[in-house]
Amino acid sequence: MRLLAVDHPLVAHKLTVLRNVRTDSPTFRRLADELVTLLAYEATRDARVADVQIDTPVAPTVGVKLSSPKPLIVPILRAGLGMLDGMTRLLPTAEVGFLGMIRDEETLLATTYARRLPDDLTGRQIYVLDPMLATGGTLAAAVDFLVERGADDITAVCLLAAPEGLRVVEQHTAELHVPVTVVTAAVDERLNEKGYIVPGLGDAGDRLYG
Ligand code: PRP
Repeated sequence: MRLLAVDHPLVAHKLTVLRNVRTDSPTFRRLADELVTLLAYEATRDARVADVQIDTPVAPTVGVKLSSPKPLIVPILRAGLGMLDGMTRLLPTAEVGFLGMIRDEETLLATTYARRLPDDLTGRQIYVLDPMLATGGTLAAAVDFLVERGADDITAVCLLAAPEGLRVVEQHTAELHVPVTVVTAAVDERLNEKGYIVPGLGDAGDRLYG
């Protein structure tokens, strides 16, 4: 697993406002959206492109365009939906698939209640969106779904990650022999006894959608 914790003053500023318990839902939604666009810029650094011949008003030249097959964006419902617009702003031609997953508050185990993905993900660059990587169970299960369909190029975009969850995802993806990149605005200190990231930002789903 490759980890990229984005070190940028705008990212740090927006994340600080998101963390603040006094930030209301409309502000939280807007800042989460802006933060994702900044993370998306880093997450798409390896986006595949092909040469294309164009004419400028002055002369012909060779540029690049995103190559096919189209990238696939997979927000994990519910909270991942709050990241979708920020990601599609940078990748407007991407396809979107959905995974609905919920973590049991007691056992902290993730279960899947909805899925809508293309059957064959071979050769696709896939961007999974989930604001919180806490125990890592949700992302590990999401990776399983994608790998079952042939995925071998997965980048997870998270607002925050916990060291415990990163270790789980690292071990899980090593066993699957699938290279996964995690792009996050910060790696926090730890998880508390309820499985919340500390200091974290609370429950991202609740703060986005109440
Ligand atoms: C939260 C969060 C992640 C998951 C992370 O979702 O949005 O999907 O928990 O936890 P994990 O790394 O320990 O698996 P939640 O289950 O609260 O659902 P929601 O998005 O519907 O609020």
